Amino acid sequence: MQKILVARSIFPDVIERLKQYFDVDWNQGDVLPADELKRRLADKDGALTAGEPIDASVLAAAPRLRVVSNMAVGYNNFDMAAFNAANVLGTNTPDVLNESTADFGWALMMAAARRITESEHWLRAGKWQKWSYDSFLGSDLYGSTLGVIGMGRIGQALARRARGFNMQVIYHNRSRVAPQIEAELNAAYVSKQDLLRRADHVVLVLPYTQENHHTIGAAELALMKPTATLTNIARGGIVDDAALADALRSRQIAAAGLDVFEGEPNLHPALLSVPNIVLTPHIASATEATRRAMANLAADNLIAALGEGPRAGQPPNPINPDVIGKARS
Ligand code: GLV
Repeated sequence: MQKILVARSIFPDVIERLKQYFDVDWNQGDVLPADELKRRLADKDGALTAGEPIDASVLAAAPRLRVVSNMAVGYNNFDMAAFNAANVLGTNTPDVLNESTADFGWALMMAAARRITESEHWLRAGKWQKWSYDSFLGSDLYGSTLGVIGMGRIGQALARRARGFNMQVIYHNRSRVAPQIEAELNAAYVSKQDLLRRADHVVLVLPYTQENHHTIGAAELALMKPTATLTNIARGGIVDDAALADALRSRQIAAAGLDVFEGEPNLHPALLSVPNIVLTPHIASATEATRRAMANLAADNLIAALGEGPRAGQPPNPINPDVIGKARS
């Protein structure tokens, strides 16, 4: 039987599925530090990860490894140049999380715009003495302008929901989406600067790459309206968190909703002390149904990539399909 490492705790029934095909080494404890990950991968043919960094040194320590299946759509934890050089396949879990993640983007955006967590903290602290006309004034979503940066599958799912709020949708993306998608979403392509100047609510849904590092920093925040909100459901590092904390503290922008952070699970301490922010621990895809779908898709990818099961040799979501069938180097 081929050997695999499941680096994280996942649904036990998915582990049972994997055990039908593989000898499974399952880490149910803390995230494995790099040296322990390398040790556990030394004799493995495949691995299922959820954000563990996999670079050339990890692949070198795992000479039998042929596939790493990430239980996430984002795979910035994979050094794909190293995967290609070693002929190791990477896979991810796109699509199954689009709607849950788009829902959550709205939840964060609405909570930020209407100051839900800020007012709840105040209420819980026993500060509510009387109703007042100017308590926690926020900004409207209905009839406002939504700015989506990153118009991929999740960005489109998010933008599709704007119709019910009678919002104007503007977007920026590496490249324009097809005209029929623009028409369906009633979305207009604009430059990043234009979007930041015009949007009432900016949502980030782009993958993390070197080029996207600090897509939103001090200069970009300075372009935004003082009434605007910023929501990040993409990846830590796309926003300069220190600059954002400054912009929130000085009310350069009204509020932010963040599900992802630079250096998570550690947060920039300044983010914890600004009031006009909604913070969640990377849970945008966290519904029971979606996380199950992601875990099963990650398992499907691993099973098929290692030549087992009904789709043997044809994993559904190869990131670098050119390496399929090539000998490990
Ligand atoms: C979650 O962050 C994912 O990339 O799926």
